[in-house]
Parts: sequence; structure tokens; C-alpha cells
Amino acid sequence: MRIFIDTANLKEIKDAADMGLLDGVTTNPSLVAKEGYKDFKDLLIKICEIVDGDISAEVVSTISDGIVKEARDLAKIHKNIVIKVPIIKEGLKAVKILSSEGIKTNVTLCFSPSQALLAAKAGAYLISPFVGRLDDISHDGMNLISQIIQIYDNYGYDTQVLVASVRHPMHVVEAALMGADVCTIPFKVIDQLVKHPLTDIGLQNFLKDWDKLNKS
Ligand code: E4P
Repeated sequence: MRIFIDTANLKEIKDAADMGLLDGVTTNPSLVAKEGYKDFKDLLIKICEIVDGDISAEVVSTISDGIVKEARDLAKIHKNIVIKVPIIKEGLKAVKILSSEGIKTNVTLCFSPSQALLAAKAGAYLISPFVGRLDDISHDGMNLISQIIQIYDNYGYDTQVLVASVRHPMHVVEAALMGADVCTIPFKVIDQLVKHPLTDIGLQNFLKDWDKLNKS
């Protein structure tokens, strides 16, 4: 499973990249706004310098012509830029045009298997189902992932399933067990994935024993 980080924070991206686990980065307008970046293109260039993998950049137009224009512009920044497009009718029209031009798309804000099916038909490179936001309203987010994987397998669609809106380590583990292609993870959850209390206790004891040996 490819691992992306879900953030626009350069320090977090660098930290995760240094651990050797990053295959890409996802951003969205809210994440960029949180960091206070006014120059989106400059931010994307900086991210592309840190990570050699898919970097998702989201459009803000909601009309297909506008989405295509924004996408072409963003795609020129770097070969690794993937255009995030919302799953609305105008978005699907744009995805069809962009995929025919060889511009990769990440179809975002997916909350149902029917939306995922349409995204694949339009030629999406990635589909981003938001599991955490479904869990938040008492729906089973991970069940959506399993349904999309089954539909894509049934018909051999090339669109890759990217598990998004991850809230905790079990989302990541379940994504891997289900065979999701990609999981985009917030920095806090990456930290939680590494941590284990028995590792910490074990390491503490090893170091204490080593110290004792060298002092005896
Ligand atoms: C990623 O592509 C999405 O934009 C992101 O995972 C949304 O996560 P949230 O539900 O925590 O905002």
C-alpha cells in the first residue's frame, strides 16, 4: 500500500519523508488555509522538492471549463502534480477531458460506491473516499472502501482507491488488510502508527541493562 501524508505543513512532510515512508502528499483548500499559505504554487513547488511521488493539488472552480483551466495550469508546475477534482457533474466532465490529455486526477469528496463507479468511468487516476467523515455521521467508512474495491475488481477498472479522511491507526490497518492502493494519513496518525508502549518499555530496559553492565 502506498502511503501519502495528508497535510500542507512542510515541516510535517519533511519529517515523514525522512522516515522513508512517504509515497506522496495530499492537500486540500482547508489544509492549505490552515498553514496560511497565500502562494499555492510556491507551496506545491516546495512539496515537490521534498517528496518524489504523487502530490495532489485541489481545484476550486466548480464549472468544468474552469476546472480544466486550473488543472492545466497546476499540472505545469511539476510532473508529479495530481489534480484533485470534486465529484460533482461538472467535475466528472473535467476528469474525462483531463484524462484524455494525460493529466492525472484524484476525484475527491467521495461518500458513496455509485460516485466511485462514475469516477472510474470518467477516467480518474485516484478515487478518495472520506472514511472519517462517514464514521462521524454514524456510517461505516471502511465498508465503503470494501465496496469500491469490489466494484473496481469486478470490472478491472484502473482507478486506484485512496483511503482519505483517516482519523486513527485502525483505519490504516484495515485499509491495508482490504488491499486499498493508497492511504493518506495525517501526521498525528503517522506518529501513532509508530508508537507501541511495549517498544518503549523494552528499549528503556535494554538501555538500563547496558548501562548497568558498563558501570559494573
Ligand atoms: C484528503 O485527500 C482529504 O482532503 C482529507 O483526507 C480530508 O480529511 P478530513 O476529513 O480529516 O478533513
